[in-house]
Amino acid sequence: MRLSEKIALPLLHKLDPERAHDVAHWFLQKGLAPSPGIFSTPRIATELAGLSLPNPIGLAAGFDKNATSMNALSRAGFGFLELGAVTPRAQPGNRKPRLFRLSEDRAAINRFGFNNDGMEAVAERLRSRPKNLPIGLNLGANKDSEHRNVDYIEVMEACGPLVDFVTINVSSPNTAQLRNLQQREALQNLAEGAVRTRDSFEKPIPVFLKIAPDLEDEEIAQIAQAAQHARVDAIIATNTTIQREGLTSPDAIQKGGLSGAPLFAASTRVLAKLYSETSGKIPLIGVGGISTAKEALMKIEAGASAVQLYTALIYQGLSLGDRIARELDQILADKGIHHLSQIVGKKHKDYL
Ligand code: FNR
Repeated sequence: MRLSEKIALPLLHKLDPERAHDVAHWFLQKGLAPSPGIFSTPRIATELAGLSLPNPIGLAAGFDKNATSMNALSRAGFGFLELGAVTPRAQPGNRKPRLFRLSEDRAAINRFGFNNDGMEAVAERLRSRPKNLPIGLNLGANKDSEHRNVDYIEVMEACGPLVDFVTINVSSPNTAQLRNLQQREALQNLAEGAVRTRDSFEKPIPVFLKIAPDLEDEEIAQIAQAAQHARVDAIIATNTTIQREGLTSPDAIQKGGLSGAPLFAASTRVLAKLYSETSGKIPLIGVGGISTAKEALMKIEAGASAVQLYTALIYQGLSLGDRIARELDQILADKGIHHLSQIVGKKHKDYL
């Protein structure tokens, strides 16, 4: 951890978590956050669904929902960023408090409910986006929308031409019934619509799908089939969980999605299962509970071609992405591995 983070993090943790999040963005926007540039070597530079990632460590969706800090984030060391979720119309999200730190568990619970400025405002900001790394957008649906599948397409039409990939997020636990869109028929229709939309773009972009960790094996198999039929370009596993096992923090009782260390095992199992269901044919992005290079490596061995993180940044600071990229490169070098693609999915059976 950098000295500035050693000083700033304990102070931020004295604040209400959402307030601390806003202050962190203020620091970013003022240029006061770590800015090491992007670490890349031929060993960890990765091609994923046609995107060139300088390194495979990405920032997960939800940290920069409104694309307000993307300039600073583009220099923070991540190999790619996912912004959003964004819905067609701006919406306030759920009542506060809606973000909880579970420090004893190295975890967080959030029930934001897709608070965001709406697609027009975000599209406006994306027009002056940084170009030094791939940036994607997490698509969401308005809470009061009658046709949620139309919402995803609308956001895609408004913002898709300005980003390098989009993610259909049908896995947030904080919008009632949203996860029903993971059911085979609904999912395939939605994904086919998104793929048709991107095919109509002057410059087509890859379409990713993000799924929940709270799925039975049969549901994972159905999702894998629907994604392949619809020609989805990559699957992100996973979003936050509604499970609460093994937690000790007082706020473990809060409603919402749990992220961070306690999510690692469940999200890695879903990732490995997806890898085995797709026989490695669709690239996978592993997310859930990563806080070290070793854990990033475990996700890769379970089937991920790249990874993302969020909650560990709350405890270790924004420079963590850069640190993990450097350490991952060193671990691979020590093992005599020339490129990380050599180990993708090699141990997936260990996680099933
Ligand atoms: C999230 N996450 C999330 N995911 C998503 O697809 N769209 C979103 O808008 C959000 N919003 C969001 C807000 C907050 C406060 C958190 C903590 C998380 C989920 C996130 O992208 C990731 O999938 C999980 O947090 C698991 O990764 P970590 O946090 O354990 O590294």
